Amino acid sequence: MPRTIAAGNWKMHKTQAQTRAFFDAFLPRALRMPAQVEIVIAPPFTSLHTAHAALRDHPRVMLGAQNVHWEPNGAFTGEISVPMLLELGVRYTIVGHSERRMYFNESDHTVNLKVKALLVGGIVPIVAVGETIEERRAGHTDARVTAQSAAALDGLDAAQVRGVVLAYEPIWAIGTGANCDAGEADRVMGLIRNCVPGLEDVPILYGGSVNPENVASYASQPNINGGLVGGASLDPDALIALIENAGRHA
Ligand code: PGA
Repeated sequence: MPRTIAAGNWKMHKTQAQTRAFFDAFLPRALRMPAQVEIVIAPPFTSLHTAHAALRDHPRVMLGAQNVHWEPNGAFTGEISVPMLLELGVRYTIVGHSERRMYFNESDHTVNLKVKALLVGGIVPIVAVGETIEERRAGHTDARVTAQSAAALDGLDAAQVRGVVLAYEPIWAIGTGANCDAGEADRVMGLIRNCVPGLEDVPILYGGSVNPENVASYASQPNINGGLVGGASLDPDALIALIENAGRHA
């Protein structure tokens, strides 16, 4: 059985002071949340140190990053490497988010390089895949997301594949309030699960306008093992309600 993960993707939100305020409100209640749900928060790079300090006595919540470079160091202005993330206590890193693919030229090839570098360093990649609304309308969803998934995992052996997490995020559902029907998300995620050997027990998360109200419909689907949550992860009350509802239906 894949484990269940609730991952918060803060994107370009929260200063260090706001990060501290979030954890002050969130952590005292995190202990009471369903133990079967693994909690990951991915703040911006500038808040990782602050978050790491806040989480020191809270192993219940794990730290994530939103991006990484595949080289350990070098002349790559503006980039951050796996050893740098490890030093900050980062355990998970999102790669291939559609915003990075769209605005920062992230490709299947660089996603694959990042996945490999993370696995070598001992950080769990959360590989995001998803189709545009045009691709969905043209009937290309299944081919698109399975191709993205296979490309991200290209060259990995089955043991390495077992060390990743995947996230299905239909691009048209991200930040729009137009969340994907849970049954349809589950169908697509079943295809993802079977596209490469080794994914049988890998958590596959749904992302795209998940909120405390709709999370239960996802948590009860067989191929959905949690959520990658943007907007609703910024507010401690919303995130707590979301995790509690997910835990009840997982
Ligand atoms: P959203 O973002 O929950 O705000 O739709 C999800 C994501 O981009 O990971």
